Amino acid sequence: MSSQETHKIQENNTSEATTTASLPRLGMAAPLFEAVTTHGKIRLDDFRGGWVVLFSHPADFTPVCTTEFLAFAAIAPELRKRNVELLGLSIDSTSSHIAWVRNIKDKFGIDIPFPIIADSNKDVATLYGMVSPGESKTETSRCVFVIDPNGIVRAMIYYPLTTGRNTDEIIRLIDALQTTDKHAVATPANWKPGDKVIVPPPATMEDVEARLKAGFECTDWYFCKKAI
Ligand code: BEZ
Repeated sequence: MSSQETHKIQENNTSEATTTASLPRLGMAAPLFEAVTTHGKIRLDDFRGGWVVLFSHPADFTPVCTTEFLAFAAIAPELRKRNVELLGLSIDSTSSHIAWVRNIKDKFGIDIPFPIIADSNKDVATLYGMVSPGESKTETSRCVFVIDPNGIVRAMIYYPLTTGRNTDEIIRLIDALQTTDKHAVATPANWKPGDKVIVPPPATMEDVEARLKAGFECTDWYFCKKAI
C-alpha cells in the first residue's frame, strides 16, 4: 500500500484499520491517515498548507506526560504564529484523553488547545514507528514528527519514556527549518533566530571563487556565514 493512501483509523474497529509499517523517512511524504481525536475526526491532509508537529506520549494520567502537555500548551501560541498546528497521540481512548485534559484543567488551570489522537488500535503509531518494543510494547515513545506545508517529513525526534521533551528545542527546530526554506541556507549548532547562518558549501571551483568575493564571513572556502 502506498504511503500516500489515507489510512482510516476508527477506534475499536480493527477491521477498518490498516497498520502497514512503512516508517517515515526525512524528505518523504508523511503517511496519511484519518483518526478520531478529542476535536473530532481529522485527516492529516486537512493540515496541508500549514506545518504540523505530530507528537506521541506514552500514556494519559502519567506525570512526565502531564508536564509535557503543560509545556506543549504553553508553546501553542508561538507555534501558531509560525503556522504550526500541534497534534498529540497516545494508545488511549478518546474518553481517557478527555478525562485527562479535564483533569489538567482542574489541577493546573491550563486548557489543552490541540487535538489528541485516540490511537487505541496503534494504527497511526504503527504507521509512524512510534512504538519502541524494547522500551514498551503498549506505549508510544516520546516521538516528534515535523511535517511541512507540502506534507513532507522534515524532522523526527525520539525521546525515551523517562525523559520529558524540551519544547524550546521544538520551536528552535521550526525556526531553523523555516529559515532554511526562506533563505536557502543551513543553520549551525545551537543556532537561534538572529544568529548568522551557514552559506551552503560550494559545489564547483567557480562557486568557490564567487563566494570568496561575495562578502560572506568566511573562515575557509567551505565555511562561510552570513547575516540574514
Ligand atoms: C510519565 O509520563 O510519567 C511516564 C510514562 C511512562 C514511563 C515513565 C514515565
